[in-house]
Amino acid sequence: MKHIALIAENLYKTYGKGNTVVHALNDVSLTLHAGEIAALLGPSGAGKSTLLTSLGLIQQPDSGKIIIGNETVFNDGYKTDIRAFRRNHIGFVFQKANLLPFLSAVDNVRLAMEINDVSGKAAKKKAEELLAKFDLSERKNFMPKELSGGQQQRVAIARALANTPELLLADEPTAALDSVMGRKVMELLKQVAHEHNTGVLVVTHDHRAIDVFDRIYVMEDGKIKAPF
Ligand SMILES: Nc1ncnc2c1ncn2[C@@H]1O[C@H](COP(=O)(O)OP(=O)(O)OP(=O)(O)O)[C@@H](O)[C@H]1O
Ligand SMILES: [Mg+2]
Repeated sequence: MKHIALIAENLYKTYGKGNTVVHALNDVSLTLHAGEIAALLGPSGAGKSTLLTSLGLIQQPDSGKIIIGNETVFNDGYKTDIRAFRRNHIGFVFQKANLLPFLSAVDNVRLAMEINDVSGKAAKKKAEELLAKFDLSERKNFMPKELSGGQQQRVAIARALANTPELLLADEPTAALDSVMGRKVMELLKQVAHEHNTGVLVVTHDHRAIDVFDRIYVMEDGKIKAPF
């Protein structure tokens, strides 16, 4: 049996009330296996970012259930210390790399581990290994402003993986990149999913790299329309 990275069941999230009410999540269920990379497609306003931030325990759905790894983290309310859980089990990649500008590439990755009490030496070694894997060894001591957009985004992915999360969530990670670098970053995410046995869910408008995905979810009006 395949291990499960994520199960979402019957998630609902409503913004506003009265005649400004928006049903951003309207009975959303999805599954992501460990080692699988899935795309989340859909038009603007479909609810993709709301779903991702809900799954990432950044914002609270109104109701439903979220299981990450084998822990029920949300069941009509949080069931765990979400800040600790997020730090230990979930990685995020956003449209912009959002690296800390006053830290080098390697120190950006290290910091993510040191927050989690991984000691200086071990954190440095792991950070260097991750950057090497992403072809950034020669740039490890560069400051973010000295790196290209694609390089910064690869550092951000390395940082997101620093604590070996079961779940990696990415919201339009290639939107700011050209198509060649965009594809590279998507392929890197796939490699990460397969090698680290991480479940990776990627919101994307980028149809040029769509063949990278093991599974595709399409969202519209707060609902999952079609899992392929
Ligand atoms: N904080 C908020 N308050 C009120 N409405 C919100 C809020 N955040 C999102 N919405 C609404 O919820 C719906 C879903 O928004 P969401 O950001 O999840 O869409 P999306 O699929 O990520 O869109 P895009 O592709 O443009 O990023 C939209 O109609 C949006 O207007
Ligand atoms: Mg969005």
